[in-house]
Amino acid sequence: MSKIQAIRGMNDILPEQSLTWHYLERIFQQVVKKFGYQEIRFPVLEQTQLFKRSIGEVTDIVEKEMYSFDDRNGDNLSLRPEGTAGCVRAADQHGLLYNQQQRLWYQGPMFRHERPQKGRYRQFHQFGIEAFGMVGPDIDAEVIQLSAELWRELDLLKYLNLEINNIGSASDRKAYGAALTAFLSARTEQLDDDARRRLHTNPMRVLDSKNPQVQEALTGAPVLQDYVNEDSKSHYQALCSILDALGISYSENSRLVRGLDYYNNCVFEWTTDQLGAQGAVCGGGRYDGLVKQLGGRETPAAGFAIGIERIVLMLDSLEKVPAEELRPIDVYILAVGEGLSAQTLQLAADLRARYPGLGVISHCGGGKYNSQIKRAFACGARVAVILEQEDGSAAPPQNARLRRLDDSGAVLTLEIAQIPEQMGDFLENSGI
Ligand code: HAM
Repeated sequence: MSKIQAIRGMNDILPEQSLTWHYLERIFQQVVKKFGYQEIRFPVLEQTQLFKRSIGEVTDIVEKEMYSFDDRNGDNLSLRPEGTAGCVRAADQHGLLYNQQQRLWYQGPMFRHERPQKGRYRQFHQFGIEAFGMVGPDIDAEVIQLSAELWRELDLLKYLNLEINNIGSASDRKAYGAALTAFLSARTEQLDDDARRRLHTNPMRVLDSKNPQVQEALTGAPVLQDYVNEDSKSHYQALCSILDALGISYSENSRLVRGLDYYNNCVFEWTTDQLGAQGAVCGGGRYDGLVKQLGGRETPAAGFAIGIERIVLMLDSLEKVPAEELRPIDVYILAVGEGLSAQTLQLAADLRARYPGLGVISHCGGGKYNSQIKRAFACGARVAVILEQEDGSAAPPQNARLRRLDDSGAVLTLEIAQIPEQMGDFLENSGI
């Protein structure tokens, strides 16, 4: 029988890899907690309409990348390609948005039918934050500050660049879009099918094109900045001066328009040159129109999402995960002899009770000393505890050996009853 393989672009995260994920998830949760953000969870499946109305009908995500299907009732559903739409839907449905301020975070799988390559997958994971009900540039700055704090905690800040842009209001972009359509209409022979179609439906999305010929056609095109209204400009300038005062460096990129339609005013992306083509690790911005567009009341909002796989790739290749985080097991208890199960399991329980942070495995399945100690090494334990019956004796052993599994190979023989008390020192000091 042939084996069934995972779907292309959808990864299994194996035990060894999951240690980096845990570390990252813990740091992220610590940072959002420090900033007073609270978790929200919402389904991976939503009405397709939710994504069409928020991300935009004429975007790569909605046109080409969604996993959509009719369910058994004939409802058209889609796997979420991002978190903002579902977060807004959930928060509004449960009355969290009207006349309130909310700081929310989420994490989980997202699905986009993109061409898989390093750092780009069909099932990938995001951490996101969304802040609702705050109109000034201070919340834009806080959202960026939180992302910078995360990079600092992970020691990645020096590998990341912050790019920001002001994309103005929806009506600014409409006026700009008309100018862009007029400009490109004189160059249609340089456009590909996608760009030609978008020219009249959503001209700004032509700017996202990865086709060099289309990019060439865009040379000398009108620039969005010339169409941005004065309020947006002063909001953006205020944000820039807060970032300056906070010492958060950034570069302004007038081509940064983001691939989703719901943004207005300030948008940003954190990028790196450590990941090859998939350099964007975090993207976000302000989206004051979205709640209303989805049927709620007018609610200012801003947020971002981070691609977890991309940060994991960075943490692993730059070796930024502290060694102790990468070691799931500390103590491996060997039982050489018959009838020692209860004694080893009890010792394991005593060690776990005394050192809640410790990973303790009690060897199961018997076997000779050599095969058991091999397993202790293989699982990466720091210390083996060896319970061994005296030759020919059926009595439970009184003593056990503690053996460090590092180069020191230090060994200490102790009464079993003393092991929980002594283990802390033994783990710390190989010299004992
Ligand atoms: P986005 O830029 O589409 O924004 O995605 C955010 C991040 O998700 C990207 O910077 C990237 O790191 C990661 N990402 C996107 N697609 C993939 C993929 N196929 N494989 C691996 N990683 C990927 C959003 O999703 C918005 N909802 C962000 C937001 C929140 N804006 C306001 N609030």
